[in-house]
Amino acid sequence: MTTDARRHHDPAARGFASDNYAGAHPEILAALALANGGHQTSYGADDYTAHLQDVFRAHFGPRAEVYPVFNGTGANVVALQALSERWGAVVTAASAHIHTDEGGAPERVGSLKLLPVPAPDGKLTPELIAREAWGFDDEHRAKPQVVSITQSTELGTVYTPEEIRAVADFAHERGMTVHLDGSRIANAAASLGVPLRAFTTDAGVDVLSFGGTKNGMLFGEAVVVLTPGAVRAMPHIRKYSMQLASKMRFVSAQFEALLAGDLWLRSATHANAMARRLAEGARRVPGVEVLYPVQGNAVFARLPHDAGERLRKRHRFYFWDEAAGEVRWMCAFDTTEEDVDAFLAALSEEMAR
Ligand SMILES: Cc1ncc(COP(=O)(O)O)c(C=O)c1O
Repeated sequence: MTTDARRHHDPAARGFASDNYAGAHPEILAALALANGGHQTSYGADDYTAHLQDVFRAHFGPRAEVYPVFNGTGANVVALQALSERWGAVVTAASAHIHTDEGGAPERVGSLKLLPVPAPDGKLTPELIAREAWGFDDEHRAKPQVVSITQSTELGTVYTPEEIRAVADFAHERGMTVHLDGSRIANAAASLGVPLRAFTTDAGVDVLSFGGTKNGMLFGEAVVVLTPGAVRAMPHIRKYSMQLASKMRFVSAQFEALLAGDLWLRSATHANAMARRLAEGARRVPGVEVLYPVQGNAVFARLPHDAGERLRKRHRFYFWDEAAGEVRWMCAFDTTEEDVDAFLAALSEEMAR
């Protein structure tokens, strides 16, 4: 470890708390260095952002338009505002990040009305959406205008392209649009083994929030418009929502490094494989119950609270539902097999105590 006094952490220490705990992928840092130097026009009129349009179109088709933003909450709030009118509402899973983990930003910043429905495995279906998709002409009701789904979901599950197509058909038949929170979209594509467009553009998604940070970027996400006619005033909404980066070239250069080659897929495939390894090992430990299908980079498990507390002191992670003894273990692009095996050994020890 370097003795540089400005380094305040151990760069070899990793845990299972969050894919956001990871640093940036070296290829991303190299791309930032390459994009540095000289002057480039600010606020997105730079050469990197111009080139990024082609990078995203290669994945999502010729109509796609990309709007880089700072973070995932911002991407969601911008996207949902662009899809709805002031009297509109967004149907979403009760477990969705927009409902549970954005500090009310959709409501406070976006003036959006959310209509959450319980979704046991994190996935919406036409039947679940139907619970709130009604009363379109009832002035007493916020008008359901958007369905927002998350891929991969907050519970680590993944929609198939057919499942998303069913959601989109149901929404479109009722005059609604579809937003996809793709904070972990790369993990979903890696899990399904299909191109990104197979469960987005080709499945009827209108706008998505594309995640970069959890997959090795330093910071930065993007709103990707797949149906240009479905949104209004994107540039204005991004600006007044405080998501317009002045030095946008540094968000765009990271996305190019992620998406022009296979870094996005390599990193996500690896993170998913580590989660599978973790889940397979955890299932073999008596008393540990793995809770949902492990289809992305997240593992949810139930174990006795005291064992969880002791384990947390050795390897960092969060309780998901502390009262129920439910924990969440996240893998990242830099999680190693040794990390997983050491964690499993500690899990076995603590469960046997
Ligand atoms: C599913 C999902 N959507 C959106 C976000 C928002 O990301 P940010 O923390 O960058 O606002 C997260 C972050 O944890 C997330 O898990």
